[in-house]
Amino acid sequence: MRKVLKVIDEEAHQHDIKQQRMFEIFVEMQYVFVNAWVVESKYSEYSESVSKITTAYLNELKKHPYRDVLGEVMGKIYALKNSSKSKYCQHLTPTSIADSVAQMLCVEKGEYYVGDIASGTGATTLALQKELSNQSNDKHIKILMNDLDSYVSKVAVIQQEYTQMFHNKFSTFYLNYNHDVIKEWNDFATQGITNKTKIIGCTERSLITNDVVKRALSSPEHIEGKLLMNSFQSVRAFNHYLSTGEV
Ligand SMILES: C[S@@+](CC[C@H](N)C(=O)[O-])C[C@H]1O[C@@H](n2cnc3c(N)ncnc32)[C@H](O)[C@@H]1O
Repeated sequence: MRKVLKVIDEEAHQHDIKQQRMFEIFVEMQYVFVNAWVVESKYSEYSESVSKITTAYLNELKKHPYRDVLGEVMGKIYALKNSSKSKYCQHLTPTSIADSVAQMLCVEKGEYYVGDIASGTGATTLALQKELSNQSNDKHIKILMNDLDSYVSKVAVIQQEYTQMFHNKFSTFYLNYNHDVIKEWNDFATQGITNKTKIIGCTERSLITNDVVKRALSSPEHIEGKLLMNSFQSVRAFNHYLSTGEV
């Protein structure tokens, strides 16, 4: 954790911006990248910094699978909306508590539905995946997340994508909505997906309604990025096979 914070601090200093702004740029770039494998040109001057923050984050995720690393970072750099005047009340569940709750909730069967309608950066759904990963890999998990705040939802999407990529051995499908759970319940919860539904992240990319991601998905750079990622994943699978004898 300290390493991630140190890199954010150094890179913010380098660009003469606040830590919060540096983290925001990291989130914007990574959010588009994990969904479309495209690097947003708008932030090209920050590419190197974002790449250093990403490396520090992924090293932390490798050491602590399923931990809400970025939520903790947001707490440390005061990027959460949790002042006494904020309507968001963003006090995220610490990993140790999320883990304990997940242990109490899990039951053994093949298909799982997990959800959090005020999911923040995803601490609870990550903990549930951790608990399920301790059981057999022969399962399918469907995850539903929702939050009023698109910023924390984007962070949840980044963490979900990298967790799936590096840790989940079971099949996972997730949906992350961006609604007011009280006033907009009908727009996402009772009538399936309608033209008012806002989807920040989803395993099925064509369902995402965020304009920046939609644009990135239809850009020529997306095809190139996707090919690169496919080859990266093949290399990872091959290396895994060489080191463990499993696929
Ligand atoms: C206390 S945090 C909990 C986050 C997460 N469930 C966890 O355990 O770490 C509450 C979350 O609810 C979101 N929120 C607040 N009001 C909401 C509303 N009306 N609809 C949907 N989400 C809301 C906030 O943005 C915040 O991320």
